[in-house]
Amino acid sequence: MKLCMIGTGYVGLVSGVCFSDLGNQVICVDKDLAKINKLKNGIIPIYEPGLEELVKKNIKNKRLNFSNNLKESIKKSDIIFICVGTPTKRNSSNADLKQIYNVAKELSKSINKFKIIITKSTVPVTTGDTIENIISKKNSKKKFSVLSNPEFLREGEAIRDFIYPDRIVVGSNDTKSNKILKNLYSPLIAKGANYLNTSRRAAELIKYASNAFLATKITFINEIANLCEKTNINIDDISIGMGLDQRIGGRFLRAGPAYGGSCFPKDTKAITSTGDNFKTNLTVIKSVIKSNEDRSKLLLKRVYEILNNKIKNKKISFLGVTFKANTDDMRDSSSLKMIPALSKKGALIRYYDPTGFKKEFKKHKNVNYSDTIIKCLYKADLIIIHTEWNDFKSLDFKKLVKNKKIMIFDMRNLYSPKKMIKKNLKYFSVGRGL
Ligand SMILES: NC(=O)c1ccc[n+]([C@@H]2O[C@H](COP(=O)([O-])OP(=O)(O)OC[C@H]3O[C@@H](n4cnc5c(N)ncnc54)[C@H](O)[C@@H]3O)[C@@H](O)[C@H]2O)c1
Repeated sequence: MKLCMIGTGYVGLVSGVCFSDLGNQVICVDKDLAKINKLKNGIIPIYEPGLEELVKKNIKNKRLNFSNNLKESIKKSDIIFICVGTPTKRNSSNADLKQIYNVAKELSKSINKFKIIITKSTVPVTTGDTIENIISKKNSKKKFSVLSNPEFLREGEAIRDFIYPDRIVVGSNDTKSNKILKNLYSPLIAKGANYLNTSRRAAELIKYASNAFLATKITFINEIANLCEKTNINIDDISIGMGLDQRIGGRFLRAGPAYGGSCFPKDTKAITSTGDNFKTNLTVIKSVIKSNEDRSKLLLKRVYEILNNKIKNKKISFLGVTFKANTDDMRDSSSLKMIPALSKKGALIRYYDPTGFKKEFKKHKNVNYSDTIIKCLYKADLIIIHTEWNDFKSLDFKKLVKNKKIMIFDMRNLYSPKKMIKKNLKYFSVGRGL
């Protein structure tokens, strides 16, 4: 099949490449010419394990193309996936759908034969209706069909998630398009993926409800961790004990920093706005948002306590600054709140991240990138383990830090408190007592 992915970011690039690997002819389009030129030369603009090999393989096999010519790419394709960003609107909780509607307008001018138009971007309920209205202003409804096919991949695991998804959700009542989509996904269905056909609005809401639920699980366990700290209980026991209940499940039950990333913060806000727009107060999700906002403040307070409120000139080393391991995505990472707050109080901050330097900290005073763990940890007063990269899981702190007093705040509970105490390290973690 001939596909066009509009928006070549984390979702458009990964799903476009994977579709091409399944034997389809795919054009990945982006308005960012620099990105397209890099990709044409096999340079991957994002960090995603396994992606580079797959891009190179499918360019070589002539199934994967990159372009910034939207009109031409639409004309050449039968199925168009909209994969552009849907960030939060400035000064509001609503999703900003400018990029989606711009694409819809472009599409309305370029329909030369029947097109299946699919939102893979996460869009609020009724967005598909609006896209249909925009396109039908210039085209007969017989010439196109608008579907919702939300994407559930996780950054860092994106290729595996695309090939072995828990479920594929396609929202449409159009029998002809549904048949084509089921055929497109048939190699994944053959490997065991569940295929769910719903109404377009239901598919749109499944995505938001799923993300809100996962964010709720994280926030829930973070609050239970707070209680564990007061009652001298190990949160890891609670996570395991709860997770063994199949009705609950163990995933997303690990205590840590506030959830971040390009999806949960914006999607929890957007679904509450949708609720408000339809006069439905989604109080659970609203309290999750509030609790998560408080989380970074609470962990910062812990940092201040660990340092006896003497922050000025303290050498604080962050291991990992992205919102989670195995991605370079900084969007809404809790480090964006913690590092500037500590820098304002006069701390001398160094950070190391396996995905390199982050422009987000450029403007902050005394915040410097170290290109190795060794340089980052040398003579640190306090080490903050912020993300759960494998690289950080078995460090010999005594050898690396070269300080008499070593203090570690492990926000991901990567180490055993008993072992750390045995090594004479002052070790703090989350939900395992102060
Ligand atoms: N990142 C994730 O893990 C993830 C997972 C599931 C769903 N989603 C959803 O998928 C959507 C895309 O997310 P992302 O992280 O891939 O975003 P992204 O910001 O990485 O990529 C979006 C791309 O779209 C391009 N773009 C914008 N307008 C364009 C236009 N008119 N023509 C061509 N290109 C255009 C941008 O230049 C950018 O490269 C969002 O709605 C997001 O919520 C993301």
